[in-house]
Amino acid sequence: MKQDKEIVLTGITTTGTPHLGNYVGAIRPAIEASRDARVQPFYFLADYHALIKCQEPERIKQSTLEIAATWLALGLDTDNAVFYRQSDVPEITELTWIISCVTAKGLMNRAHAYKAAVAENQEKGEKDPDKGITMGLYCYPILMAADILLFKARKIPVGKDQIQHIEMARDIAARFNHIYGEHFVLPEAVVQEEGAVLQGLDGRKMSKSYNNTIPLFLPEKKLRKMIMKIKTNSLPPEAPKDPETCTLFSIFQAFASNEEVEQLRQRYHQGIAWGEMKQYLFEYINEHVKDARARYQELLQHPEEIEHRLKQGAARAREVAAPFMVEIREAVGIAPLTR
Ligand code: ADP
Ligand code: TRP
Repeated sequence: MKQDKEIVLTGITTTGTPHLGNYVGAIRPAIEASRDARVQPFYFLADYHALIKCQEPERIKQSTLEIAATWLALGLDTDNAVFYRQSDVPEITELTWIISCVTAKGLMNRAHAYKAAVAENQEKGEKDPDKGITMGLYCYPILMAADILLFKARKIPVGKDQIQHIEMARDIAARFNHIYGEHFVLPEAVVQEEGAVLQGLDGRKMSKSYNNTIPLFLPEKKLRKMIMKIKTNSLPPEAPKDPETCTLFSIFQAFASNEEVEQLRQRYHQGIAWGEMKQYLFEYINEHVKDARARYQELLQHPEEIEHRLKQGAARAREVAAPFMVEIREAVGIAPLTR
């Protein structure tokens, strides 16, 4: 693997089924980037992160399978991108401990996810503000820092909610470098543009947490049914409609060309019936996903193929990680006594 390329790294937590929002905001741009020979992407299934939020083993396993199949079906270029499962790279957890020992507890006290959990306890009037909070949740930014620092990744594409974690990874890296010398690259968040946020069935941001998602690879009939469920206003069919406040339009926009969007905008101004618009949106998205969906279904029938590709990815990741961990261990004074 050439090391002169810019390293771009991102993790996908394995707790759910990919939805259209994940596709538009994260998967599609990442796959496009995987085809750019100037960058070296590292994309991984963050299954250790998943344990923080989910204690249902079957769900973690199923989600790992579905997410891996999704990325492969959509044509992730695994010759260029290193695609692996976090838990197949033991150097990540090893590094987590080493950097834990330079991470200030106060830094973790300030993490949004932890603070939100404490605030929730306080609102509920709990005596113990840490009630129900695991060390996994508390230390999660350190695991994430290890994911990033181990591969000397510079650019980290993430959603807004993750910016703080990247800043923490920088802080931890700088602290380590200050004590032990320059070993880590300081990472930077690359935040997706605001415009790319896709709305869900109820018009809010499409998110697992709101239960308003449209899974990316729903079978055709179910996809149609779900699109029919998207909330609209109650204007009569012939009335002119405002595209800018319409969920159907905003979803269409995320898939169509500028020209197609412009044409549809005119139709809104002239008056388009909601039933017709929903059917049109369904056909458009269905056409867009159908080939990948067939490959996805095929891959789900062959988990051994997916496993094989993940293992290959992990082997490539470890080619980088293992020698770097020797360097890091030596830096902190953990090394063979004789050579
Ligand atoms: P969810 O909100 O469903 O739990 P995640 O937080 O797991 O989704 O998001 C995974 C990735 O998908 C992130 O990079 C996030 O920015 C992106 N993403 C999630 N929902 C949307 C959306 N509605 N529009 C655009 N991108 C999204
Ligand atoms: N925590 C990220 C999320 O919830 C996923 C993730 C784990 C990640 N490790 C990472 C993202 C490293 C970027 C880099 O979305």
